[in-house]
Amino acid sequence: MPSFSLSRLALTLLLGISPFSSVALTHNVQISANVPEGASEFVDRSFTGFAFEQSSFYNYSFDAEGNPNEFSQNLVNAVLTRTGGTPLLRVGGTSGDHGRYDPSHEKATNFPATKYGPKTKISGDRLVLGPSYFQAFKNWPGAKFELMVPFYNTTFSRTIAWAQKGVEQIGINNLYALELGNEPTFYPWFSITEYVKRFKNLQGNLIDAIPALADKRIFQAFDTASYAAANLKTKPAFEDGLNAIAPSIKQVAYHYYQNQHGVANFATFQQYMRHTSTKSNLTNFLPNMNYLKQNHPAIGFAFTETGYSVGGKGDKEHVIRTNNFASALWSLDFQLCAMSMGVSRINWQQIVRSDLQMWKPVKTSLGAPRVTAHFYSQPFVADFIGKSGKTRVMELDIGMPQNGLYAGYAAYDNGKLARVALLNLELWDPQRSSGDRPSAKFSLAGLKNAGSKVTVHHLNADDGALAQQGMTYAGLEWTWASRGKQKKVKDDNKVLDIVAGKVNVVVKATQAVLLEIQ
Ligand SMILES: *[C@@H]1O[C@H](CO)[C@@H](O)[C@H](O)[C@H]1NC(C)=O
Ligand SMILES: *[C@@H]1O[C@H](CO)[C@@H](O)[C@H](O)[C@H]1NC(C)=O
Ligand SMILES: *[C@@H]1O[C@H](CO)[C@@H](O)[C@H](O)[C@H]1NC(C)=O
Repeated sequence: MPSFSLSRLALTLLLGISPFSSVALTHNVQISANVPEGASEFVDRSFTGFAFEQSSFYNYSFDAEGNPNEFSQNLVNAVLTRTGGTPLLRVGGTSGDHGRYDPSHEKATNFPATKYGPKTKISGDRLVLGPSYFQAFKNWPGAKFELMVPFYNTTFSRTIAWAQKGVEQIGINNLYALELGNEPTFYPWFSITEYVKRFKNLQGNLIDAIPALADKRIFQAFDTASYAAANLKTKPAFEDGLNAIAPSIKQVAYHYYQNQHGVANFATFQQYMRHTSTKSNLTNFLPNMNYLKQNHPAIGFAFTETGYSVGGKGDKEHVIRTNNFASALWSLDFQLCAMSMGVSRINWQQIVRSDLQMWKPVKTSLGAPRVTAHFYSQPFVADFIGKSGKTRVMELDIGMPQNGLYAGYAAYDNGKLARVALLNLELWDPQRSSGDRPSAKFSLAGLKNAGSKVTVHHLNADDGALAQQGMTYAGLEWTWASRGKQKKVKDDNKVLDIVAGKVNVVVKATQAVLLEIQ
């Protein structure tokens, strides 16, 4: 069967049509009604976090009139009210790590966020933050912060002043973690031994200057760049000296971008979307996670700066903007897969001048405020987690074909099967294929003791993979027009009966569904 399906994909790509579009492939999925062996631990209700590049945070926090940015607030709340978790906002990145705090700087920042996009090295203007910048931490009711302070520069004095101002404005109780630096493997001085030595040294200086940091599990380590994970692993860094300060470390962080340069064509895009790509990429982190689980179970493992693609826009003939409905589905699969593998939480990156953010917060020279496709993964992930704080997740064996185009996950809430997510990651674009949108049928069995009905919520865009508008989740939409408040725009939920422990669910190409079992 895999070859059947691969050749169908190949034909689809070659001819630009879906030759078997009316034939739904059937996946027979056996689901355990009770928590199976291998399920995750309880998923944090704050799993779905957000991240803000330091140079962009002010514009995410204040609107154009200088008032708290309600659009941003509403979007964050739209996600976190679904789980009841605390919004965890990471404010960090290269711009800040190469920058400095200057108490005499009058403006919030020395250049507008529109000036620079994602960067791993700064040449030219370095970010300067003035005291008024820190007002931006006041506009997020109920949130806690992962605050990065610079580590790139080996002169610590300005870092200490930055941390003091930050902790004063945020308040020690709302400081989730203090992060030392960003993507250290890019530092000119980097080696694991130097990193550990300097980390301990800066940490000691910070604790001396800010006694509230003492004797607390409040520091965030690593923030290793995506694609550099092999250069800073948990085991050698802890054995080289972090073990001595392990009780002060709240979480170890890595950054993650599925793709580095954008995608040039549809075949490559499909390759990046495949569940098998995502799963094997995440599997690379398992030794780092397992080391912590076995040696320091109280230290979390988080992806604190995450996105589909960083840099690049594809080739000239087929420029595929990679913030579209398909990459939103990737974001969904990535998050569900990560939680099933034991990742503690994920912060999704926001940069004003980029193509990777979940929303553009204010009108700038780069355009009007808007919600981007990627946002649509978040309410789905949050609903999948639910509100109990007692949800454990297991990836489903979705049966044939094993070509990586399909994925499924079960959520066990308080020990009982409560929700199922099914994803069809086959890319479908009406401009590239004629005929009906292909679909896959999932025949779910084993639900006898789970309930009598399922409600099916669709994550969909009628325009398919490349859609940047017209996305809905459970018939809901989030837009600038509604200032980020959810609005019901259609009723495409379905209720299906469970008969003899079975139910059949059809998921179209480039679509995902969340099943709630009643
Ligand atoms: C964006 O933030 C900068 C400070 O970084 C501020 O000067 C500017 O007015 C903000 N722009 C808008 C449109 O609010
Ligand atoms: C580090 O900070 C010091 C003091 O602010 C400054 O003089 C120096 O130029 C900085 N070095 C780098 C590499 O940014
Ligand atoms: C993820 O998978 C794709 C496809 O195999 C690969 O090109 C990419 O480098 C991987 N990304 C990461 C961060 O491992």
